[in-house]
Amino acid sequence: MKVFLETFGCQMNRLDSELITGSLISAGHEFVRDRKSAEVVLYNTCSVRAHAEDRVHSRLGADGQRKADRKSGLIVGVLGCMAQRYGRSLLKRHPHVDIVCGPGQIHRLAELISQVSMGQRVIRLDPSRTDKRDAESEERMDWMDLLRDPSPPGASRAQAYVRVMRGCDNFCTYCIVPFVRGAERSRDPNHIVREVARLVDAGRTEITLLGQKVNSYIWRDGQAVRFSDLLARISAVAGLRRLRFVTSHPVDFTDDILQAMRDLPNVCPYIHCPAQSGSDTVLKRMNRRYTRSQYDDLICRARETVPEVVLAGDFIVGFPGESESDHETSADLIRRSGYKNTFIFKYSPRPGTIAASKYEDDVPTSVKKRRNNDLLAVQAEVGLAHHQSCVGSTVEILVEGPSPRSEKQAKAARPDCTQMIGRTRGDHIVVFDGDRKLAGRYIDVRITGADSLLLFGRLSHS
Ligand code: 5AD
Ligand code: SF4
Repeated sequence: MKVFLETFGCQMNRLDSELITGSLISAGHEFVRDRKSAEVVLYNTCSVRAHAEDRVHSRLGADGQRKADRKSGLIVGVLGCMAQRYGRSLLKRHPHVDIVCGPGQIHRLAELISQVSMGQRVIRLDPSRTDKRDAESEERMDWMDLLRDPSPPGASRAQAYVRVMRGCDNFCTYCIVPFVRGAERSRDPNHIVREVARLVDAGRTEITLLGQKVNSYIWRDGQAVRFSDLLARISAVAGLRRLRFVTSHPVDFTDDILQAMRDLPNVCPYIHCPAQSGSDTVLKRMNRRYTRSQYDDLICRARETVPEVVLAGDFIVGFPGESESDHETSADLIRRSGYKNTFIFKYSPRPGTIAASKYEDDVPTSVKKRRNNDLLAVQAEVGLAHHQSCVGSTVEILVEGPSPRSEKQAKAARPDCTQMIGRTRGDHIVVFDGDRKLAGRYIDVRITGADSLLLFGRLSHS
């Protein structure tokens, strides 16, 4: 059947979508880019903020209309976090939905599609958060089907994601993730290393390890394997040029991980470690389990141990009770951090979370917007200073492909303009004039300019 798949949310969902693509292609389905020509429409959904959910509801509304207008059947499936969160009750609002499939069940999707085509309505959620058999069969799929995954056209085939743990036990009060993704479960390190080795064999040279709190990875079977041990084992895979990981939690960023980053040459000096707020009172109400000074200490330790480290953060503005002075402390944290970039979000109460039931959403929308803009402006200055400090240096980049602008120019019949983008080890995005054939290769570029988000470079012939 012709399948259209749209992905919302984080890297974890992008990985799940790759796995879905691989498994459905191997089951004989074909993927199309145009939703209108599809016989199966799938949404891999996100529940982290209301906005992401609203977009899926509006897509589903339009599909309901199309299904009613069409004579031939259309199969509609909701996958991932919204499926897990709402389950059967999604059907009250969208009775035309055929498949509701939680994130731990996506390996069954081909089977579910064939059940629906035979006239069944299917709902399949994670039966239990610790169902061992399911987790293992999903794991097998992880490394079997990835190899068949057709990367999106134009993207470099040199990069791949590998999940090392699932779920989260932190229960930050604003966050829905522990409720939909379940308890923390780390994967067997032998499976992970084997998966990485097979990906490298298949030509992937940059691996990004994924986990909601990736650095709390721990495998307790015989001698415990900590995240730093896992990094050491993976980094020894022959042919692996770059090893990254996201997202880290500040509390679990112990010195052994920093030392591993310093000592293992293919581990990239990049840390995405959300602070969420600079204020101790807000951090406490968020249940982040660290103070501002502990976060500052992490930044100091990171810079001391890995001097070339590049940092990125996340912040939430307008959390319940956030005062103007709390907000100022977040701005101050960004000013002092030297972040390359930060992701800034307006607080969105998620029904079912601790904050939504305990605290009133008392910061007006207009104030959230203004605070969001304030932090973006501070980050723009910090990001510009950070990127400018790279001007004049020569750096190795992995070329990812043509820049989106270059794609537009190609469509406008100007194939001579090939503006390419690549990434440094520190995750800077570098824009340069080059050749499409460079995609997937490691090359040196000389950095000649910068703005708050990008570096501009020239091919280096030295
Ligand atoms: N409202 C706003 N932002 C949120 N995040 C998580 N939950 C919420 C919420 N309810 C943000 C956090 C997290 C990122 C993935 O999304 O900053 O690090
Ligand atoms: Fe959500 Fe907090 Fe867990 Fe991150 S650490 S996934 S923000 S509960």
